[in-house]
Amino acid sequence: MRIFQLITVIGFASVIFTSCKNSKNSGYASHNAIENTPVSDSMKHSGKKLMETQCYVCHNPNTSHDARIAPPMVAIKSHYLNENTTKEEFADAIWKFVQKPSKEKSKMRGAVRRFGVMPYQAFNEEEIRQIADYMYDYEIDEPEWFKKHIEEESKGKMKYRNDGKKIGAPHSEEKKTPAERGLEYALNTKKELGKNLMGAIQKKGTVEAVTFCNVHAYPITDSMATAQNATIKRVSDKPRNPKNQANTKELKIIEQFKKAIANGEDYQPVTEVENGHNTFYYPITTNSMCLQCHGIPNKTIQTEVLTTIIDLYPNDKATGYDINEVRGIWVLNFE
Ligand code: HEC
Ligand code: HEC
Repeated sequence: MRIFQLITVIGFASVIFTSCKNSKNSGYASHNAIENTPVSDSMKHSGKKLMETQCYVCHNPNTSHDARIAPPMVAIKSHYLNENTTKEEFADAIWKFVQKPSKEKSKMRGAVRRFGVMPYQAFNEEEIRQIADYMYDYEIDEPEWFKKHIEEESKGKMKYRNDGKKIGAPHSEEKKTPAERGLEYALNTKKELGKNLMGAIQKKGTVEAVTFCNVHAYPITDSMATAQNATIKRVSDKPRNPKNQANTKELKIIEQFKKAIANGEDYQPVTEVENGHNTFYYPITTNSMCLQCHGIPNKTIQTEVLTTIIDLYPNDKATGYDINEVRGIWVLNFE
């Protein structure tokens, strides 16, 4: 079943990459430098990207109803918003909760009963406010089942809300910049990997999930290599799998991202264009879930998990991380 989902993503990606070939003359070919490529309006709102990278691990709108591990963001929007809520009140309420989640502060008792209280994570207030701003001003992604679900489950008491500007029909694949295509692909893969990983942890425990990563991480990226003219890999300055060692250039880019993130700066994907050949780099950052396997040995990584990791990866360097650190980067290559 999971494998089918992965194949779907890969299939989708090859459609994207096939269409890349049609837009060769986009003018990028003349550039020959590393640049921070601007992304178009629809993707520009920093809150959108922040929400996707920081909240979708758990609040993913594409998770099926039964596989959920947290309510979708639109459920939160519906509970936190009514006719009179100002943007500021909305952002304050969200920040108040995520700053230190607790049962007492919850406005979603049903969700707490079902999923347990949201785990504490050290979020940045400014970023949470940008996410809230985006949620307030725009119609956000919602699962197909949501509208019917909220009305039924609350017996009409809870109102469905997803007010706001539509993000607009995304412009056609042909018009997308290489950075947009790369970012979209990286986020899709990440979402899928994250979902499968979280599922494996929940169903089988962290030890089994290590084996899951060991078996499945490579097939996913390898299948991309056979997709038309495109490759995707995850590399790191401190790899677990030695095959994922970053090269000199990649190490330099990892350093750039590390600096930006440590200084709390906004970062953009880096795209490099040379003779019509695009290389796309995007950071992979840690959240609290990652620490179970990439955190501090015998503290955040339980001894049993550590033993399994060392068995499979005797030269493992990928431990000692805290949250919101650069674990590695996505590297995509396409024509
Ligand atoms: C590791 C999983 C996880 C991540 C990551 C996560 N959440 Fe949650 N969140 C949950 C769960 C589970 C619930 C449901 C239980 C609850 O309400 O506490 C929840 C509920 C919420 C609620 C509703 C609280 C209430 O009960 O009134 C808000 C608001 C929220 N999350 C915001 C966010 C935002 C914003 C992000 C990203 C910056 C985020 N969450 C990231 C797991 C997560
Ligand atoms: C259940 C344990 C587990 C969890 C949780 C986990 N990882 Fe990993 N991670 C692994 C294993 C095992 C590998 C090696 C996979 C392989 O052989 O390619 C790996 C490899 C990676 C790599 C490729 C580079 C390398 O070190 O080989 C990156 C990047 C990465 N993980 C990031 C993350 C991030 C980010 C998170 C949290 C969102 C995360 N991982 C959560 C076990 C885990």
